[in-house]
Amino acid sequence: MTATSKQDQIAALFRQATVIPVLTIERLEDAVPLARALVAGGVRTLEVTLRTPVAIEAAKAMIAEVPDAIVGIGTILNGDDLARAEALGAKFGISPGGTPELLKAAATSRLPFAPGIATASELMQALACGFDVVKFFPAEQAGGIKALRALAGPFPHVRVCPTGGIGEANAATWLAEPNVLAVGGSWLCPSAEIRAGNWAGITAMCAKAMKTLKAA
Ligand code: 3PG
Repeated sequence: MTATSKQDQIAALFRQATVIPVLTIERLEDAVPLARALVAGGVRTLEVTLRTPVAIEAAKAMIAEVPDAIVGIGTILNGDDLARAEALGAKFGISPGGTPELLKAAATSRLPFAPGIATASELMQALACGFDVVKFFPAEQAGGIKALRALAGPFPHVRVCPTGGIGEANAATWLAEPNVLAVGGSWLCPSAEIRAGNWAGITAMCAKAMKTLKAA
């Protein structure tokens, strides 16, 4: 697959998602009910982060048992993580950053991939490897919308998925930016709700958020 079509693919995935929950799954048995709860609330595009020992198995279970979920892998830190994501059948990969090793591996991998950037130099390194769809992370902490608008000056063609500090209160404001395809964050899947198995609560929260954000 060419770099351009991979970029178009991840841009399309992000755009149709609007919101991408950043999932940290502690217990494997939570994976499938959580994915079902999110999908039932209209949130289909999910980022399963490689932050726990069960993350890979959790993503596999979601892919096998929740066909309506579009499962990607997040917190990809190196080429091995990227290869694991591709092998398990993830639809996309996301990283909080981008080392030269990871960017090189991602450029040759078939997996649609968004590296993370927070500065102009990081963005230039991503662009040099063919990535013009990026995660802006940590979005609020790295300067928020003002920083994103400043980056859009020299890089008007770059499209982003901001994450970090985004929640119910500011998601719509971020989505109103012309270069924002989707927003990501953990607010739709709080760990307390996952631990409590409050699947109905998660569905209700997602449905409310999607209604508000799609309308905005
Ligand atoms: C990420 O990896 O995108 C962040 O951990 C999400 O940040 P949040 O918890 O502030 O939403």
